[in-house]
Amino acid sequence: MEDKTTWAASAEKLNVVFRSRRGTHQAVKDFSLCLERGGTLAVVGQSGSGKTTLLRALIGLVPPTSGKAELFGRDVNTLAPGELAKTRQRCGYVPQDPYGALPPGLTALEAVMEPAVIARRSWSKDETRTRAVDLLAELGLTETRILNSRAVGLSGGQRQRVELARALMLEPELLLCDEPTSMQDVSTRGEIVAVLERHVARGMSMIFVTHDLRLASRAAQRVIVMRNGELCEEGDAQRILKDARHPYTRELIASIPVLPEA
Ligand SMILES: Nc1ncnc2c1ncn2[C@@H]1O[C@H](COP(=O)(O)OP(=O)(O)O)[C@@H](O)[C@H]1O
Ligand SMILES: [Mg+2]
Repeated sequence: MEDKTTWAASAEKLNVVFRSRRGTHQAVKDFSLCLERGGTLAVVGQSGSGKTTLLRALIGLVPPTSGKAELFGRDVNTLAPGELAKTRQRCGYVPQDPYGALPPGLTALEAVMEPAVIARRSWSKDETRTRAVDLLAELGLTETRILNSRAVGLSGGQRQRVELARALMLEPELLLCDEPTSMQDVSTRGEIVAVLERHVARGMSMIFVTHDLRLASRAAQRVIVMRNGELCEEGDAQRILKDARHPYTRELIASIPVLPEA
């Protein structure tokens, strides 16, 4: 597959307008971003600011009203279905809602193995299973009872970690994760970010969506603050935390509860 671009993902003047009986709502406004290969980007904003819609538009799950979304330099809205599927296989996606996202008929372990089965990786069944068990263990899920449990038997936090393992199973070049630690306690959040760091160290790019600016600055090198569908502030993660320029970003920082470092 030819792609000489240095970008893992990019958006150019992306607009997403939802129309419903209640009228129209512009969830994403003139949004542009670039994520270089191997880079990490966090998108931060309060609930309703358009983070989920932006992420879904980037992988072609939400059609933009105008503007362009690209993965590895390829426009996700003009790719032929087969090409889009191939491009998506290079990405891991962790949806925001872990309820309803996991296949209900599969155990946690089977759900993590499934992407490899669908992508027809040449891994043997044993190798696939070992990789899935290792990934789940990395994310703190080791008990046989949990690995053999179907989605209904898992807590929200456990489902989120199974989703993450599923998304990492094919060693994606790009991970797009939507509030992947929202249901974890503080110490588990830190452990999950550490797992993600290890995958970034092997060359994975990542877009990490969260409403928690402090977590964002730990998970990613660069932060974009989003407000009412628009880009509000962008910069180096540590700089934003120490020296936010936009009043809205300062508000976000002020709203972070002071907790002991996890
Ligand atoms: N499918 C949809 N139809 C209509 N409105 C939607 C839809 N999805 C999201 N929205 C609206 O778009 C706005 C942004 O939502 P969302 O992208 O989920 O924000 P966030 O992830 O930051 O909480 C919200 O006002 C939400 O109600
Ligand atoms: Mg969301």
